[in-house]
Amino acid sequence: MKVLGINGSHRPGKGTAALLKAALDAAAEAGASTELVELAQLDIQFCIGCNACLGRTSCTLSDDMNDLYEKMRDADAILLASPDYFGTVSARMKNFMDRTRPFHMVENVLKGKLGGGLATAGLNNCGAEGTLELIDHWLATHEMIAVHPRPKGPVLAPGAIATGFAGLDEEGRPQWRSVKADPIGFDLARQMGLDVVEMGTRLGY
Ligand SMILES: Cc1cc2nc3c(=O)[nH]c(=O)nc-3n(C[C@H](O)[C@H](O)[C@H](O)COP(=O)(O)O)c2cc1C
Repeated sequence: MKVLGINGSHRPGKGTAALLKAALDAAAEAGASTELVELAQLDIQFCIGCNACLGRTSCTLSDDMNDLYEKMRDADAILLASPDYFGTVSARMKNFMDRTRPFHMVENVLKGKLGGGLATAGLNNCGAEGTLELIDHWLATHEMIAVHPRPKGPVLAPGAIATGFAGLDEEGRPQWRSVKADPIGFDLARQMGLDVVEMGTRLGY
């Protein structure tokens, strides 16, 4: 089973990448082959709205999306990770989503593949759920199967969200931590990797 992770952070290797890597590492431990793609390291132009994809499953632009289209075709599961920017995905991730339109307008090329979303955020309760909702909407548009991780024990979070907020000090000043220090978010991310492989195995991938 092949699990492709796509990071929409502008900062390769930082918080969002770490969260995605936790999911991919868990998937690898469960037997999947994995790959992490940093959108920030690729040349991916803006969708130009030419509408050529109304009649074909490929894009008129020629850039690093060409390779990524092939990786997506080849994957059994695709995980999208993004920082929460104003309650939704980063512009980089949104442009990637726009560029997947050729996989939707003639037929749903990604239909039946598994997918999942992960998000990082500065604050708690400040938009990361919206980030995951947009990713879920992208999955649904492509008729992919959304995996929502469920670790054992009590439900502690709505999804794989890791935040940098470490509470207020005695004078009410916000304290910050690395998102990597969010135990709940990283637990959910690892569970994402495990659940993707478990569901993929059940579905015969
Ligand atoms: C332009 C911008 C908008 C942001 N908007 C939000 C927001 O609405 N809510 C929030 O909690 N954090 C917000 N953040 C914080 C990022 O989500 C957070 O720093 C994230 O972990 C960065 O991920 P990275 O380490 O991969 O860069 C914003 C950051 C930037 C730069």
